[in-house]
Amino acid sequence: MKTTTSAFDAYHDGDVDTNRSNNPHLSDLIAVRYSRRQTLMGGLSAAGAAVFGGMLLAACDDDSSDRAVTVSAGDAIATSSGRTVTLNGTVGSGTASGVAWSQVSGPTVAINNATGTAATFTAPAVATATPLVFRFTGTSADGLRTEADTTVTVSPAQLGFTAVAKSLADVVAVPAGYTVTVLYRTGDPIAAGVSAYANNGTDGNFAQRAGDHHDGMTYFGLSAAGAAPDPNNSSRGLLALNHENIAGTVAYLHPAGQTGNVSGGVRPEAEAIKEIEAHGVSVVEVVRAAGNGAWSYTQGSTFNRRITPNTTMQVNGPARGNPLLRTRFSADGAQARGTINNCANGTMPWNTYLTNEENWAGYFRRDTGDAARRTAAGRGKENASLTRYGINEGAAGNNRWSTVVPADPASTVFARWNASATTGDGSTDFSHDPFTMGWVVEIDPFDPASAPRKRTALGRMNHEGCQIGRTIAGVRPAFYMGDDAQNEYIYKFVSNTAWVPADATAANRLAIGDKYLDTGTLYVARFNADGSGQWLPLVFGQGGLTSGAAYPFADQADVLINTRLAADILGATRMDRPEWTAVNPATGEMYCTLTNNASRTPANTDAPNPRAYTDPKLPQGDLVNADPPTSAQATRGNANGHVIRLREAGDTSEATAFTWDIYAFGSGADLNATNINLSGLDATNDFSSPDGMWFGLSSNVTGQATPLLWLQTDDGAYTDVTNCMMLAAIPGTVGDGGTRIVNNTLTTAANVTTTSTATTRIGKAPGTTLRRFLVGPKECELTGIHSTPDGRSLFVNIQHPGENGTAAAPSSSWPSTQTGAATGSARPRSATIVITRTDNGIVGL
Ligand code: FEO
Ligand code: CA
Ligand code: CA
Repeated sequence: MKTTTSAFDAYHDGDVDTNRSNNPHLSDLIAVRYSRRQTLMGGLSAAGAAVFGGMLLAACDDDSSDRAVTVSAGDAIATSSGRTVTLNGTVGSGTASGVAWSQVSGPTVAINNATGTAATFTAPAVATATPLVFRFTGTSADGLRTEADTTVTVSPAQLGFTAVAKSLADVVAVPAGYTVTVLYRTGDPIAAGVSAYANNGTDGNFAQRAGDHHDGMTYFGLSAAGAAPDPNNSSRGLLALNHENIAGTVAYLHPAGQTGNVSGGVRPEAEAIKEIEAHGVSVVEVVRAAGNGAWSYTQGSTFNRRITPNTTMQVNGPARGNPLLRTRFSADGAQARGTINNCANGTMPWNTYLTNEENWAGYFRRDTGDAARRTAAGRGKENASLTRYGINEGAAGNNRWSTVVPADPASTVFARWNASATTGDGSTDFSHDPFTMGWVVEIDPFDPASAPRKRTALGRMNHEGCQIGRTIAGVRPAFYMGDDAQNEYIYKFVSNTAWVPADATAANRLAIGDKYLDTGTLYVARFNADGSGQWLPLVFGQGGLTSGAAYPFADQADVLINTRLAADILGATRMDRPEWTAVNPATGEMYCTLTNNASRTPANTDAPNPRAYTDPKLPQGDLVNADPPTSAQATRGNANGHVIRLREAGDTSEATAFTWDIYAFGSGADLNATNINLSGLDATNDFSSPDGMWFGLSSNVTGQATPLLWLQTDDGAYTDVTNCMMLAAIPGTVGDGGTRIVNNTLTTAANVTTTSTATTRIGKAPGTTLRRFLVGPKECELTGIHSTPDGRSLFVNIQHPGENGTAAAPSSSWPSTQTGAATGSARPRSATIVITRTDNGIVGL
């Protein structure tokens, strides 16, 4: 979350607005009724805050203590999907024979230890209460035969843990009954012979170590022989994960912090190499010890790989070879060098990994006079594009990498970050390098030698993530994407190719990617006030996307390279920072987190982005003083974010229309219940700034019937009360709530108050179906989540703990703190953790 404001290290986490289009917010199209109501906040008192701060969490009626159930032969019992049921049978004293449990009726389950007296099974996914009947048979030593039927009535899935309390501690907290294992930390070596990470700033060679800022992540099952994908293997696999950036934690990468990153400074080559290589993607083999033991990564695995901003990539799709992609690195525009600011992920059913380039623009330097040089060279329209993507004259580029004077004069790995034009058409300098970033990139994790492919058909933006919807034979699949910056848009790409199930097991995985991801239609979303919506096609020649447009499009490649400019013209709805997308595997409904929006004001609230208010953030850790907060402490706009969802018309990924509502609004539980805490959050589930989001896999109960949704936060508005967190939910469906009128009041730092009324569509209040599962350590964000196919091991990323500290004074020592060992001033590290139940049950249920 840290925003560095120095002109020379101006990293931002998408929290900017470069959408200068005149695109109307929905509110401009409807009559806005102004309210004079002034009571947005509930008037948080010192006493009230103190009570909330120390409040015991309400007991849940389905906590972990009664999660596993045991039933004796002949009896009946009730439970819910995903829980472990033990079937006990006895046949009197002495040695029995012919003991067996078998299933008589109900959805078929696998019975473990079926020929023992204590058999077990996992309650299957059901949509309504469903009886399963089991029969126990056996003969006692004295010849007495027993036969007894047992009925287990299974109800739909429920959350199976007690909510974790909000916390400011420097540790990952999970519910009782769960274990946290730290698996893969910044700097961990991933090649044989690479030394253990000293974690004092002296380590180099990040091309063979875990990068920083772990983000989106996928677990791919690996065959027991280690030769091929095995989507059923829950004890050996490959983790592919993103290393988004180094902002805030770069100090810890060097002995005494970064040097030379000041006006007029020159960066040392060794520091810059380390910083560049700490970005990108890891592929690393992970294994679980026998007997449901501990997880570890395999340092010497031949699958291990680091992809960095220096890795050669192939450009695919309509923009391949386009004049705008021609650079000194690839004069024909068929290749690109590397990937950067890889945020969320995508998991393709053909066993490839998508990594998404988000805040790439800030890394580029652009000198004063560049616009004039482009204009003089007949490249004037590039200026409109660079501006729309936030690359403005005077930018030094994050970390000033272009200032490095390399030992090898022929090296261009630093010069490539200077996007200033020289002369000519761009193919002899790096003035087109920004056009090689902002794409979705596909990686084959099973082939370490393969070149990743930039999939230009999916458009160019601040790609947060890219998740595929349900795949149905004969239907063209959809891929859902958010463009994370203030007031940007939600997109979907619909492939031209209908789904063929056999493609999921093809040997040439990137060729399958070519088949589905290189040709199709990119759409942008327009949300209507009445709960309907349209997908607007970004197709050259349609909807005003022509050479006569404000930006004169040359062809379809130009439309895709300038996706934002095209979406502006189509009249897409400006959203509150679209982050992750997730698709409910049972219903096909698509969810998108809208993390927050500091530039949402009462004047431009609309139905899908209906809130603009003042969040009373208090000083860090201070729950009793400074009430009310000073102007400087408050967070304004849509301070806490929300989660929107949509259902495609006809429930098909090919649809061009949808209905929508808002699943949940982020808020402190203490905020005004009428106009801010619209989802009625309480101490067990209040959250702010949703970002990471993921549904359980359809290979286990968490992705079947009533799937489990995970929400992760990347917050700066509620961090006076709690560190960032992860929640679990079992959501309903679009339209299960109703409409709601929101009265907004926002007072600026200059004490100017404006108001508005917005009518929105809101889902049923989540209540106990949304619950806090985890709280992270200090100054982290939670991001990146995936599981093993069986849902019994959950992989989660902790990003940038201690991001506000310094090398001399770290502000977190996680993950050293996780074990409880004395840590002194250990530097913090991003890390992947694994969460398991101590009884090896399904995580969350
Ligand atoms: Fe990388 Fe939008 O978070
Ligand atoms: Ca994110
Ligand atoms: Ca974020």
